[in-house]
Amino acid sequence: MNDRIAELRAAGEAAVAAATTTDELEALRVQHLGRKAELPNLLRNVSDLPPEQRGVVGKAANQARQALQTALDARIAELKDAELDAQLAADRVDVTLPGRSEPVGGLHLLTRTRRDIEDIFLGLGFDIVEGPETETVHYNFDALNHAPNHPARDRADTFYLAPSPNVPGEDLQRVLRTHTSPMQVRTMEANEPPIAVIVPGRVYRPDSDATHTPQFHQVEGLWIDVDVTLADLKGVLLSFARSIFGDEREIRLRPHFFPFTEPSVEIDVSCFQCSGRGHLRNGSRCGLCKGTGWIEILGSGMVDPNVLLAVGAVRGDDAYDPEKVQGFAFGMGIERIAMLRYGVPDLRLLYENDVRLLEQFA
Ligand code: PHE
Repeated sequence: MNDRIAELRAAGEAAVAAATTTDELEALRVQHLGRKAELPNLLRNVSDLPPEQRGVVGKAANQARQALQTALDARIAELKDAELDAQLAADRVDVTLPGRSEPVGGLHLLTRTRRDIEDIFLGLGFDIVEGPETETVHYNFDALNHAPNHPARDRADTFYLAPSPNVPGEDLQRVLRTHTSPMQVRTMEANEPPIAVIVPGRVYRPDSDATHTPQFHQVEGLWIDVDVTLADLKGVLLSFARSIFGDEREIRLRPHFFPFTEPSVEIDVSCFQCSGRGHLRNGSRCGLCKGTGWIEILGSGMVDPNVLLAVGAVRGDDAYDPEKVQGFAFGMGIERIAMLRYGVPDLRLLYENDVRLLEQFA
């Protein structure tokens, strides 16, 4: 009897050692220790044996069963770990791989246009800086030479913010910036000339129609050095206009007024729909430039000496002495450039998040 028990134990242990999956081991458990298996049955029937055999056989069978049980449990635990490791390795997701499906959507037109503008000016040697969207009245208007009665200061033309006791400098009156021009002043206050920067960012004005939204985007530009002239302004902006609208384009400078530039000019680009002729091939009037051959794209001018003087007063040095340095600034609406470039008829389309619009330009 004891030989048989030893045989059963050896067979069970050999099978357990040879098993390579937890499923196999579960099957072995049933086969060797289950209700119909020989060893447990032997144990169950110990009481039928002659009394002098019961103790010896019972003990041996019990030890064999426990040994098998232990071997099974140990092997299962071992294989479970290995199986989990294998599964984890097989399931590993490389989040850095590109997606496998066709790309859906694309960069928003405004993002693309902003990046294109940035690339052009980076290529011309400008740096990119950004500034706060909530701005003090000082930087938005005063430091930019706006007279106290300038119409843009009107409560109806600018979003004023209620003073917040939690904001440092809460005594200062704040607005949502109406343009990116405050960064001209902030940049000069913080940096020695020469400087050449562009400033992309959101700006806010309470207008809303097909060509105005209360929040829109501008790119400011500023180049200050000892000898930056109106000719440089024209050269830089001609180069920009050609990069965006095509190599054939010309620009023209139209006299204008901004409080912080003198002289101020608006820049028009020759119409890229009618090549500046004002009429199409079939003789009809060009709708894009309204028959004029020119399209307004941005405002600019030579930085007003008053702005440089105010910067000097804050810095307490003569780095921006208008007798020593000069330069030009410009500001353009990203929406306007995008609409012109992609033929978008209504500005509000850019803010509706309609995938069909985005897909057209993907
Ligand atoms: N800040 C002006 C505007 O928003 C644009 C501008 C910028 C004009 C720089 C001249 C120089 O209309």
